[in-house]
Amino acid sequence: MIEPRALITGASSGLGAEFARQLAAKGKDLVLVARRAEPLQKLADELADEFNVSVDIFQADLSRTDATAKLFADLSDRGLTVDYLINNAGAVGPDLLRGRDWPAQQAYIELMMTSVAGMCHHFIPSMQKRGFGRVLNVASVAGLVSLAGDTSYGPTKAYLIALSKGLAATVGRRGVNVLALCPGFTHTEFHQSPELARMKSKSPAILWYDAEIVVREGLAALEKGKTVYVSGRLYRYLIPLMKTGPGGWLIARMGIERDY
Ligand SMILES: NC(=O)c1ccc[n+]([C@@H]2O[C@H](COP(=O)([O-])OP(=O)(O)OC[C@H]3O[C@@H](n4cnc5c(N)ncnc54)[C@H](OP(=O)(O)O)[C@@H]3O)[C@@H](O)[C@H]2O)c1
Repeated sequence: MIEPRALITGASSGLGAEFARQLAAKGKDLVLVARRAEPLQKLADELADEFNVSVDIFQADLSRTDATAKLFADLSDRGLTVDYLINNAGAVGPDLLRGRDWPAQQAYIELMMTSVAGMCHHFIPSMQKRGFGRVLNVASVAGLVSLAGDTSYGPTKAYLIALSKGLAATVGRRGVNVLALCPGFTHTEFHQSPELARMKSKSPAILWYDAEIVVREGLAALEKGKTVYVSGRLYRYLIPLMKTGPGGWLIARMGIERDY
């Protein structure tokens, strides 16, 4: 009998590695995807040992146009079926106006939006056929508010939220739950550049959550059939305020620079 498994993109660090850990702890076999093979293999060995699950790894650069089709074909060739799809891979991108390298902009859009659409395109139909599936797209609170200076990252996350809502409305009644998870600031490798490390050091510690909590809340919201979920109680209070007139003042107090 084929045992379906959880596929997690961006599993080589941060939230993706934590999704892998929490799903392995629930007994799920895993497929881990990212560009860096070494951390993927290390995590795979750890989780297989600790939780007695089967873990496959696939190296893929999801900013390449052919990546999701190739991944789907490779999994099919190996007889691997996916019932949990965690589209988590993401990165800080080039500024849309100041970054003058258009191919780099396109590669970023490919990673942040097109690859997620591609993964859904390839993997959701078989979930519908089986009458069971779970899809979690890691968006961000940045996809819920518009900030001057954010013409790239936030808009791509807004697309993931819209995509998740449309998919959930379409496949939700066929046993396939689709969720856009919107974390706020989370301790991962995401803020390692000098600019973001400086921003992190200036922002109040209370705004920063551990990956463990974000992932735990996200997986619970996915099972409950929620469509959009803001993780972290503080952010659930802050988001409505950030959308109002004094939102700019609040964002400045949070230490979020508008011009990095
Ligand atoms: N940390 C936060 O404050 C925060 C807040 C809201 C939302 N998020 C979102 O959470 C998700 C995970 O980020 P994180 O915070 O865990 O950051 P992270 O520790 O930097 O992890 C990013 C992951 O994405 C993978 N990745 C990046 N570019 C890739 C590419 N071209 N192809 C395949 N994989 C790629 C990385 O693996 P390789 O480098 O090995 O490819 C890594 O595993 C992202 O979508 C991010 O936007 C983060």
